Amino acid sequence: MINKNKSELEITLLLEAFFKKYSYDFRQYSKAHIMRRIMNRMKMTGLENISQMQSRLLNDETFASTLLQDLSITVTEMFRDPGFYRSLRENVIPILKTYPFIKIWHAGCSTGEEAYSMAIIMQEEGLYERTTIYATDFNQQALSQAKEGIFSNKMMKEYTANYQLSGGKESFSGYYTANYDSVIMNKSLKMNIVWANHNLVTDSVFAEVHLILCRNVLIYFDKNLQNKVQKLFLNSLINGGFLCLGSKEGLRFTDLSEEYTELDKKQRIFKKKY
Ligand SMILES: C[S@@+](CC[C@H](N)C(=O)[O-])C[C@H]1O[C@@H](n2cnc3c(N)ncnc32)[C@H](O)[C@@H]1O
Repeated sequence: MINKNKSELEITLLLEAFFKKYSYDFRQYSKAHIMRRIMNRMKMTGLENISQMQSRLLNDETFASTLLQDLSITVTEMFRDPGFYRSLRENVIPILKTYPFIKIWHAGCSTGEEAYSMAIIMQEEGLYERTTIYATDFNQQALSQAKEGIFSNKMMKEYTANYQLSGGKESFSGYYTANYDSVIMNKSLKMNIVWANHNLVTDSVFAEVHLILCRNVLIYFDKNLQNKVQKLFLNSLINGGFLCLGSKEGLRFTDLSEEYTELDKKQRIFKKKY
């Protein structure tokens, strides 16, 4: 019990140091997530305790960048959860079609697979010309990869299956050019994607949008931080706009559930009330 409290205190101090020195604020991330990732890094670097890690963090920028990657978790896929994208095509796109221009925000876009999936859908629906996709993340390394649009060829079989299950009817290989072990996404998909560094914890609203996708990000935040970020989303959406969360995320325990109707409960798609 004493040891547990000591580690908790050390982690609090470590996160405080991360924020004060590098302005990355993990202080309200889920304790269990932070603890797991920090313990893992401690083993991998042979550090004896969290206090040693704090000293390393303060004195070694490369280590800080490694820790940032650890705490970010950038796992993603194209057409991740195909049922979600199917519902998006069926329930959201027909409404977006009624707008003269469409703004979409992917918050926590990681290496970009989600934004490219959306660009494909908008192209297929004949809407891409009048769409702007803002794809943001606070992890610059992930964003740089996203901008390049180069992915491992090994993943394409799985992504093709995801695409087909999501209701895609074209040949998925038409959206990229393969080059040995990697593929590069078509230039036409990148045309209306704006990649930007944005931190959900410390930055504010930057656009008014019709659709927000923030999937598999809030799961790493504690309840207070989820509430804060949900307020940011509410203020960024037009009335009648859509909010899409990950399969393990929801609004039920936030202060804002009354502000939305559930468009698709299973796929976590919500509509902001007028
Ligand atoms: C698990 S990935 C999710 C990627 C994608 N949305 C998906 O569902 O496949 C989580 C992403 O959230 C980003 N993230 C975590 N905290 C963030 C913050 N405070 N501001 C912006 N992005 C953040 C991470 O860098 C990471 O790229």
